[in-house]
Amino acid sequence: MIDSLFKENIKDILEHIEDGIHIVDSNGKIIYYNKFAAQLDNVNPEEAIGRHILEIYPSLTPQTSTILSVIRDGIPILNYEQSFRNYKGKVITTINTTIPIKLNKKIIGAVEISKDITEVKNLTQKVVDLQAELLLDEKLKKKRREASQAVYNFADIIGTTDLMLKLKKDALSVSHSPSPVMVYGETGTGKELLVHAIHNSSQRKDKPFIAQNCAAIPETLLESILFGTVKGSFTGAENRPGLFELADGGTLFLDEVNSMSPNLQAKLLRVIQDSIVRRIGSTKVAYVDVRIMTTISTDPREALKNKTIRDDLFYRLSVISLRMPPLKERYGDIPLLCKYFIEKYNKMLDKNIKGIANNVSEFFMSYSWPGNIRELEHAIEGSINIAEGKEINHSSLPYYLQETYKKNKSRKARPTIKPLTETINKVEAIMITGALQRTGGNITKAAQILKVPRQTLQYKIGKYNIKV
Ligand SMILES: Nc1ncnc2c1ncn2[C@@H]1O[C@H](COP(=O)(O)OP(=O)(O)O)[C@@H](O)[C@H]1O
Ligand SMILES: [Mg+2]
Repeated sequence: MIDSLFKENIKDILEHIEDGIHIVDSNGKIIYYNKFAAQLDNVNPEEAIGRHILEIYPSLTPQTSTILSVIRDGIPILNYEQSFRNYKGKVITTINTTIPIKLNKKIIGAVEISKDITEVKNLTQKVVDLQAELLLDEKLKKKRREASQAVYNFADIIGTTDLMLKLKKDALSVSHSPSPVMVYGETGTGKELLVHAIHNSSQRKDKPFIAQNCAAIPETLLESILFGTVKGSFTGAENRPGLFELADGGTLFLDEVNSMSPNLQAKLLRVIQDSIVRRIGSTKVAYVDVRIMTTISTDPREALKNKTIRDDLFYRLSVISLRMPPLKERYGDIPLLCKYFIEKYNKMLDKNIKGIANNVSEFFMSYSWPGNIRELEHAIEGSINIAEGKEINHSSLPYYLQETYKKNKSRKARPTIKPLTETINKVEAIMITGALQRTGGNITKAAQILKVPRQTLQYKIGKYNIKV
């Protein structure tokens, strides 16, 4: 029953998925094409179904077609980036996962799921192009200052607890060095701020500061962004400098470097070791003088243990390593941070909030802040938006924080209550036992210490059944 329902509805389901889906039989004939795939390829499904895949995609060969190689070898191909020209002549870039379809261990076809990353790719490359233009054009020097520069200084890093003062002192003292810096710490602790501040205090401050986040960007795209490409090296490739070339003389900041694939980490290591980059598809090499700063959001030992960072790369990048403490290790900074963010958002939102209600302040000093300063900042921004009086009170907090606030409060309001006499008796027994131990069992002396008559003590020893 469920089976037939499933079969009837599966086509409908596939039509509504916003990824391209192709199903091909073991002879390479297209048997299914969803709407999204048709849009991507600019092919009419009616024309394509029943025809061989190479007939529809003339730019492919039996060797380069992922579908055909999966049908041949039966080995899935995961997250493979491909660029091709569709029927309108537009270069489309997709990330494909291709899986064999088997029946009784025999390959009867393959399904390919394609995610369109053309826009992401175009936009990322546009950013690189703009950066390149700014850096290379003499007349645009002033604009370049604004575009390719770190914006934060040490003064922007709020914090006066010992931990923060020590961190800022250490960071300042290494800012002039050309050695790589790795900043690690939980998300939202201000790692990015620190990296900016170090660059801005270094001798490279008037040179480019190029930042790239390494998470959520496909491997091959990141590779071409970092190292550059030459025209014709693959479909749609243009002559383009990589970020290493653009950062020459300055700082290249690789945020969340542990998100990079191990393969790319190896390539990165080679470039850093040799100070030489080669654009993808080029034979020419360029010498680059770049200071590398990185961040990782996990404990380095953990990242090494679960192999999200290669150890050879890690040791290279963490010549100088700085730990950003989580907010729960520096509650002392919370009042100052609150004041800072209240002023910031008063200005931005044209409000006049004077402070935080006492019970909310208390809550802030006991909450664990898993999102760290970013969480605190957004909590204050949200509260200022809806606060009605002069203060931020618990009802103006973001909803999820109100829930935690209420839970904490009810826990505090209900201390475990036991009958008074029971508690007093227990305390008496403990005190008497302690006094007797100190006097070696001498009741008279113990009574003197406890400042009670000897008879009273005798009575209580009997009452509590204390062994002398
Ligand atoms: N010490 C600080 N003083 C002021 N603002 C801070 C501080 N640390 C972090 N922030 C703010 O918190 C947010 C997160 O900081 P960010 O550097 O992006 O964190 P991370 O890179 O560690 O995730 C940013 O909006 C930043 O301005
Ligand atoms: Mg960050």
